[in-house]
Amino acid sequence: MISPNNVFRGPNSVADFFDPEKSPPVPLVEIPDRLNPYKKDGVRIYAKLLTHLPAQNVKSLPALKMLRGTPEAGKKTIVEASSGSTVLSLGILARVLWGNEHVNAYVTNKKHPESLYMLRFFGITPHLYGGLAQQEPTDPTGIMCRLRRLARKREDIVYPGQYDNENNWKAHEQWTGPQILRQLPEINLFCTTVGTGGCITGTSSYLKSQKPSVRTLGVFNVFGDPTPGPRHFENFNSCGFPWAQTVDTFVDVASVDSYRMSMRLSREGLIAGPSSGQALRGLLDYVGQLNETDELRQLADPATGEVSCVFTCSDLPYQYLPMYFQKLGPDEFPSIQNEILLQCDQLKHDERWILTPSAAEELLRFRPKPTSYSASYKNAAADISEITLEPVAETKQAYSVTPRPTPKPSLFPSCIGSLFKSKPRSTALKTAQSGQPRCCAVHAPLATANPPSTPLILDLRSKAAFRTKHVPGSLSAPLAGLTPDLADGDLFGVPEAVFSVWNSIQALFGTQEILDCLEEEADWGRRAVVVVCYDGDASRLVTATLRDRGVEAFSVQGGFAGVQGWL
Ligand SMILES: Cc1ncc(COP(=O)(O)O)c(C=O)c1O
Repeated sequence: MISPNNVFRGPNSVADFFDPEKSPPVPLVEIPDRLNPYKKDGVRIYAKLLTHLPAQNVKSLPALKMLRGTPEAGKKTIVEASSGSTVLSLGILARVLWGNEHVNAYVTNKKHPESLYMLRFFGITPHLYGGLAQQEPTDPTGIMCRLRRLARKREDIVYPGQYDNENNWKAHEQWTGPQILRQLPEINLFCTTVGTGGCITGTSSYLKSQKPSVRTLGVFNVFGDPTPGPRHFENFNSCGFPWAQTVDTFVDVASVDSYRMSMRLSREGLIAGPSSGQALRGLLDYVGQLNETDELRQLADPATGEVSCVFTCSDLPYQYLPMYFQKLGPDEFPSIQNEILLQCDQLKHDERWILTPSAAEELLRFRPKPTSYSASYKNAAADISEITLEPVAETKQAYSVTPRPTPKPSLFPSCIGSLFKSKPRSTALKTAQSGQPRCCAVHAPLATANPPSTPLILDLRSKAAFRTKHVPGSLSAPLAGLTPDLADGDLFGVPEAVFSVWNSIQALFGTQEILDCLEEEADWGRRAVVVVCYDGDASRLVTATLRDRGVEAFSVQGGFAGVQGWL
């Protein structure tokens, strides 16, 4: 009985949801006229969205029937030669029906590595095999025969074997065919792609049993040019299903045409993968052939003069997205605007690395952390609690036990830079401990204002701007090309400006000497760096660069404009 309002409750809710007897039929949707060049000839084409089955692919029904036909599989390891729809459906249903988590997929190593994510996402173990990607089910050295032998030998293994399991095609005879005929009694032509032959055999056999005039069309891959899911005709000859009695005719479709048509379908709102595009392409090619003769008229409903066609949508496009871009030309996709941004600024940014001026001031003044952090720092974008502010005494102790390499000369034209310039760490420390070091001639001694355990300020503004005003204890690192009016003060609004600033940053931090110098000044890994620029934008890029190199860096919202309030 169909569940009222499509609601499934109770201990068997999910199993009921997967039961086609308890769900409404999956949609049958007429394609838009834009995709149907034969509309004017009285041809109406409907997509049967098997993608709306609970496992979102054509194999949802065969997997259900195959597992129901093997109840012992509930307690065994299930193996299947499939990298897509069949094993996904088996994997999902084995859990839904029995809580069985042991499903192994035997997958060609030629498959796009990303498709393995999909299997593993669903808890299915992929076992790769080499050699031919699409193997012949009857080849004694092929993967299917090996699995068949394995299941015969091992009591704990079940091999549903989609290529010769009768429940595969019978699922479509039981459910897909009746759904379609109920939805579209006027159907004249049924078309689907052929992999195992389950869908074409089962659906055609039902349709023809009820309405012998229905013509059925199977769509194959071109030999050597696979679309994922279907096979090529040469391989299909050995299929043991009773397809020959039920299928009228076959066509083949090149993969590039399958991908293109699937993209067109998806763009029109009928979201479907490559084999669905292949089915529609094959159907249109066939209808085109019939239209050249009187055959199309003969197929039409005598009452309406229309030819009603159904093709199947067997899975979704997402797992194949990289393939669409490999198969189709770049002019078939919208181009990426501001593409220059893919060549720069690719490192992670994090809101927690942006300090409000007050949070920065708090940090730099080395105030104890307030009890209620969020109250006092409510506007702080950055979680400054992630910085460990050690008491000076402890820090000194820590310094004294850490062996330090001799620092390289500072390359920064900085007032504070000169404090540490060319000095081994011990001398620099001594200076800091003595309370005597000065930021510059103007500023007060630094030891209390900015002891080495507090963050180091890195000022990206020009030398002249730095000379005019700076936060005591800052290190000047003027960034080439950075001016207060760069990009009208909206750096991230001008991609070319981001690119140029990014390149300056890479040049500035690109040399080992500079990194060594910063390492010395920032006491790498212990002392945070607060980066200041004119408006807080370029400093975000520097922060990302420093973070990427292991420095605990922050930028300040509003840049120097924000911090000068506390000078
Ligand atoms: C995406 C896709 N389309 C079409 C088919 C073909 O269906 P059948 O095996 O019933 O012939 C398959 C089979 O696995 C498939 O995965």
